[in-house]
Amino acid sequence: KDIPALFHPYKLRNLTLKNRIAVSPMCMYSSSNGFFNDFHLVHIGSMALHGVGLITTEATAVAPEGRISFHDAGIWSDEHIAGLKRIVDFSHRTHTPISVQLAHAGRKASTKAPWLGDGDRKATPSDDPEGWEVLGASALPYNANHNMPHEMTVDQIRQTVQDFADAAKRVDLAGADVIELHFAHGYLASTFLSPISNHRTDQFGGSFENRSRLHVEIVRAVRAVWGDKPLIVRISVTEWVKDEPSWDIEESIKFSKLMVSEGVDLIDCSSGGISERQVFPTDRMDFQIPLAERIHREAGVPTGAVGFINDPIQANEIISSGKSDLVFVARELLRNPGWAIEAASKLGVRIALANQYARAGIHRPTHQ
Ligand code: FNR
Repeated sequence: KDIPALFHPYKLRNLTLKNRIAVSPMCMYSSSNGFFNDFHLVHIGSMALHGVGLITTEATAVAPEGRISFHDAGIWSDEHIAGLKRIVDFSHRTHTPISVQLAHAGRKASTKAPWLGDGDRKATPSDDPEGWEVLGASALPYNANHNMPHEMTVDQIRQTVQDFADAAKRVDLAGADVIELHFAHGYLASTFLSPISNHRTDQFGGSFENRSRLHVEIVRAVRAVWGDKPLIVRISVTEWVKDEPSWDIEESIKFSKLMVSEGVDLIDCSSGGISERQVFPTDRMDFQIPLAERIHREAGVPTGAVGFINDPIQANEIISSGKSDLVFVARELLRNPGWAIEAASKLGVRIALANQYARAGIHRPTHQ
């Protein structure tokens, strides 16, 4: 019997994933001083035991001021390497590769962890022991609940490029397999792309080329230390903002081609996050899938689809019909870390699992 597309291996540069199911990055706000700890080992480790093709860590800050909250994970110092390596090593023992999402939160930094704030991500003021001054492309705050960012100087931009490269080196030393650069959701890199948040008049603002200059520089700097290992970029394909200049799918198509020409292997296609004025489509929950499909088709680049991918048949169709190369799954894997095993049962295949689980006969024979 033919193997369903969701369970075809996928060659991501020099790495072969055993299937097309990737864990989407999810902040857990459970670190102290940026360190990965037991929480992350259990959280990521449990997904590693359950047959997914790739696990992406939560947004991992390249600089302390690049954290969304005081409790974010980070990799801004060599001391952070060991905690990450412990998780990578565990995952490798289950034959599951790890992708680290490198991030800088920009003007959306210095907020309370969701369950500690007063709703709607209240800012932590810069004079609070758990707050700091935030940076953005321009001095425009995300909203009234967020701190006013400083417009980054060119020196600060150069430093940030260096921070991404230094972080990538540490990720390599920790033995991780993939880096995903977080260029989406209104965080720092995204504020440079969007005309809503980037009003600069220097070489980092204005034209498409200028607004994407930071990203090209980060990709080149990361590539230089990351060697020939896979590199993914996550973007907001559109901002869902009408009646004002904003980043849209046409620019994303151009940007995706640019990123791939600079050595990026796959574009992870999310959306939104830059503006409170965003209005999401209401006709379907999985409204990001057509965005990934358009990037795949019109930019002609490998893509990942994400958002409300909860059903194995739906996930398989996204791959089999060529809409995307990977599916990134977030909340469904929190509900059910065994989702990949259930998907395999439902689609009539067995998947490779760590010995401890594989020998337990947990594939449901009724579906085969
Ligand atoms: C997220 N998401 C997210 N995205 C990202 O690029 N970096 C991150 O660190 C996070 N953090 C995060 C935390 C939590 C708790 C959730 C639920 C989501 C977005 C996530 O990766 C995904 O794109 C969305 O959740 C949509 O996919 P699902 O949940 O519908 O499968």
